[in-house]
Amino acid sequence: MQISKLPGHHRGNLSTLPGIMRPDDANVAGNVHGGTILKMIEEAGAIISTRHCNSQNGERCVAALARVERTDFLSPMCIGEVAHVSAEITYTSKHSVEVQVNVMSENILTGTKKLTNKATLWYVPLSLKNVDKVLEVPPVVYSRQEQEEEGRKRYEAQKLERMETKWRNGDIVQPVPNPEPNTVSYSQSSLIHLVGPSDCTLHGFVHGGVTMKLMDEVAGIVAARHCKTNIVTASVDAINFHDKIRKGYVITISGRMTFTSNKSMEIEVLVDADPVVDNSQKRYRAASAFFTYVSLSQEGKSLPVPQLVPETEDEKKRFEEGKGRYLQMKAKRQGQAEPQP
Ligand code: COA
Repeated sequence: MQISKLPGHHRGNLSTLPGIMRPDDANVAGNVHGGTILKMIEEAGAIISTRHCNSQNGERCVAALARVERTDFLSPMCIGEVAHVSAEITYTSKHSVEVQVNVMSENILTGTKKLTNKATLWYVPLSLKNVDKVLEVPPVVYSRQEQEEEGRKRYEAQKLERMETKWRNGDIVQPVPNPEPNTVSYSQSSLIHLVGPSDCTLHGFVHGGVTMKLMDEVAGIVAARHCKTNIVTASVDAINFHDKIRKGYVITISGRMTFTSNKSMEIEVLVDADPVVDNSQKRYRAASAFFTYVSLSQEGKSLPVPQLVPETEDEKKRFEEGKGRYLQMKAKRQGQAEPQP
């Protein structure tokens, strides 16, 4: 990705050169994959945070993606539209950088511009001499004191959430012979990928954007298998990247449907990394997330989805947990939509 603007403000900002969306970025209905948008967002975040972390003389470093906050896909982006990505550093803690990224889609025939996505990402600087060593982040200069206060609150909140969130170490998806339609087993899907140099930073570990794109691909396959229509990513829950995945590792990305509402489907995606030829490390869970998908008609209208039939006790438990997340997010959205008194 080329950069059209160098950081000019204290808090540092960046706009990438606009890019036209091509058929290989999109699904059969012509909508750009959520994963492609996540990859663009992550690239912009990685550039701005690596630049910031190297802005003072000291040990050189590369910024690794540690976390992406929950993000909603606000409007579809289509083939032929132009994507504009802008990123800003909004907070720095001692060892982490918060970046906010906006993605706009522009129809260059009509001049219409829409906000497609707004994401918040956290990066951690790793030493180039030893990528297992976390370095300190140069503090960012805020133009208003409230910005620092607000940033600190977001930092404390995500740290708390990370500590409270139970580590999702459930079993990976095992194939089941002749599953019935609408069951979890029917749509569950996995993708196995050998991590090659093109997936990695120059320092030999996978770009967060590459992992998120693969996760979205698996979630999309699960959603399409379940409802057999065109589908789009509606949102992705917060994702923590606990450990680096290195070049040469084999990753298994598994997706299973956990919950359906009338018109949405929640899919849990698990990323497991297997060092294969490195005997010093065992297979481990590198990331996990919940993706929400919506089924679309040929005209692009949201459709009711076939209801998931949970069979086992675990599936029933996951369904109830998914329902809880769905109701919580719905209440939050409705609260945001209500006019302020
Ligand atoms: N989200 C946000 N910040 C995180 C985080 C997460 N999931 N995990 C760690 N951090 C922050 C901590 O808050 C800390 O900053 P602070 O001291 O200012 O509070 C900083 O990272 C270092 O934490 P520390 O506990 O020393 O390091 P760690 O052992 O947790 O390692 C990473 C942190 C990010 C280096 C490690 O989790 C990692 O390598 N993750 C994978 C990175 C990667 O490969 N990304 C691409 C994914 S495919």
